[in-house]
Amino acid sequence: AIERTLSIIKPDAVAKNVIGQIYSRFEGAGLKVIAARMAWLSEQEAGAFYAVHKDRPFFKDLVKFMTSGPVMIQALEGEGAILKNRDLMGATDPKKAAPGTIRADFADSIDANAVHGSDAAETAAVEIAFFFPTLNVFAGR
Ligand code: CMP
Repeated sequence: AIERTLSIIKPDAVAKNVIGQIYSRFEGAGLKVIAARMAWLSEQEAGAFYAVHKDRPFFKDLVKFMTSGPVMIQALEGEGAILKNRDLMGATDPKKAAPGTIRADFADSIDANAVHGSDAAETAAVEIAFFFPTLNVFAGR
């Protein structure tokens, strides 16, 4: 089925100047960018976005990292977009990510791991709505 997923290019990958290389991977896999914006997240925004992790030991470091510089946020659309994007990203820990995946190629650590992608249909809908009011999504145009 055609799905949508929320993708974030994290501060480490933005700083490495690889936004275009990562977009090329999305496009090469048939994923279309249907909404996008760059932002420097506040502590409040990053904490709210990652609220599901608020009791995890890594939460504080996660928020600190995600607010350390600008991020590039996009909604992607395509056949099986959620799993396709997760396959492109590779494992959360870049040391465990398969060769040729975004995290294997561009990430440095489990915190500075280059990209975020929604993990399921329900979270994708919530995450897209968090960053993009529907008027700013251009599917079908
Ligand atoms: P992301 O997909 O953005 O979702 C939560 C992030 O927390 C994850 O990527 C990692 O960058 C970070 N993180 C740090 N430590 C862990 C951990 N032990 N398990 C999962 N995520 C972690």
